[in-house]
Amino acid sequence: MDKDTADRLVYTGPGTPMGDLLRRYWVPALLSSEIAEPDGPQVRVQLMGEKLLAFRDTRGKVGVIDEFCSHRGVSLFFGRNEESGIRCAYHGLKFDTDGRCVEVPSAPQVCERMSIKAYPAVERAGMVWIYMGPKGTEPALPDLEWCTLPPERVYVSKRLQECNWLQAMEGGIDTSHVSYTHRFEVDVDPMHRGTKANDYIKADGNVIFEIEKTDVGLTLFGRRNGEPDSYYWRITQWLFPWFTLIPPFGHHALAGHVWVPIDDHSCWAWSMNWHPERALSDEELAQMRAGAGIHVAYEEGSFRPRANKDNDYLIDRRAQREKRSYSGVAGISVQDASLQESMGSIQDRTQEKLLPTDRGIVMARRMLHEATLALQKGEEPPALAASAQRVRAAAVLLARGTDPMAWAHGHLVVDGQEPVHSV
Ligand code: FES
Ligand SMILES: [Fe+2]
Repeated sequence: MDKDTADRLVYTGPGTPMGDLLRRYWVPALLSSEIAEPDGPQVRVQLMGEKLLAFRDTRGKVGVIDEFCSHRGVSLFFGRNEESGIRCAYHGLKFDTDGRCVEVPSAPQVCERMSIKAYPAVERAGMVWIYMGPKGTEPALPDLEWCTLPPERVYVSKRLQECNWLQAMEGGIDTSHVSYTHRFEVDVDPMHRGTKANDYIKADGNVIFEIEKTDVGLTLFGRRNGEPDSYYWRITQWLFPWFTLIPPFGHHALAGHVWVPIDDHSCWAWSMNWHPERALSDEELAQMRAGAGIHVAYEEGSFRPRANKDNDYLIDRRAQREKRSYSGVAGISVQDASLQESMGSIQDRTQEKLLPTDRGIVMARRMLHEATLALQKGEEPPALAASAQRVRAAAVLLARGTDPMAWAHGHLVVDGQEPVHSV
């Protein structure tokens, strides 16, 4: 890939082509629980290079505003969240959830022109989502399956990943690495163990991909040998611009990710599990909170994984030798993060030598690239309709000779009728 194209894909600051594109979608910003209480402590939020501040006002309304005071640039992180607004601790200017300046104690007459940036915010799936695009262009609200289920069926976490958003997301599109990176982990992990999926994945490491380009992203069909008369198909989606779904493992909860740039060198890896038909059990929730499955254990008081680049992800050579961990790193998400961060915070894509299994990544890059060009020409970005998000991954045995794309039509929709397809 040439440098110009790569740069267009990875940089997301204000005014960049990809930054403009991503700002046309609702952006997962933070967990609702980070600002649980009205008038509770405000938190800093950085997204696509913009430094913001999130708070919940006296009436419970969420505000996501510029981090800095319009007067002389003090961080409002050090301000007071009280009486429906944040008051700067330096000279007492006060801002509401819309960024409106509502008080200038020393000069009330200039109040109006002291307002600061604010983004519309909504809450879905225990997350605050904001819209950072031009006023009046908000698309439909997030409507992914996990955004619309009762809260007891969904668990969401986020972790800091210390590399560019695109190379993290590419790991979510490239499911061929599961046969290697996660090879031993899936046998013991409580969210993956005890499924036929593991047998098929391990027995056949040479996935053959068929990929369908859709209006809203890609559907990826990964074929492995199944039973003597069948193939085992792991079918999943990449949805514009940053959602990846994970093919299911047996009857375990469904799973997916969102990959959101913090700045050019780090991103939020959001991880979600949900069960369409039942509440997650106390045991499942306890495991997820402890960092099992696609979740992680954190460094105290942060969203940075305890196993991180400063400690070589706690690599255990003995576990590697004894085939308890393929790479020696423990935990599915940390396994991914360790490899992806090891490429450098922005992978040099001019040097890579791609393989046939990278076709999904190549197509996603191309579609994102084309979408940035189209937006610059004034065309609307893809997948703005809520229906674009009403799809689900599957893992099925299909008789050899069955066309998986034909099978997939109608079986991957989220419509309240269609069951989960997973063996
Ligand atoms: S810098 Fe905020 S009130 Fe003066
Ligand atoms: Fe992975």
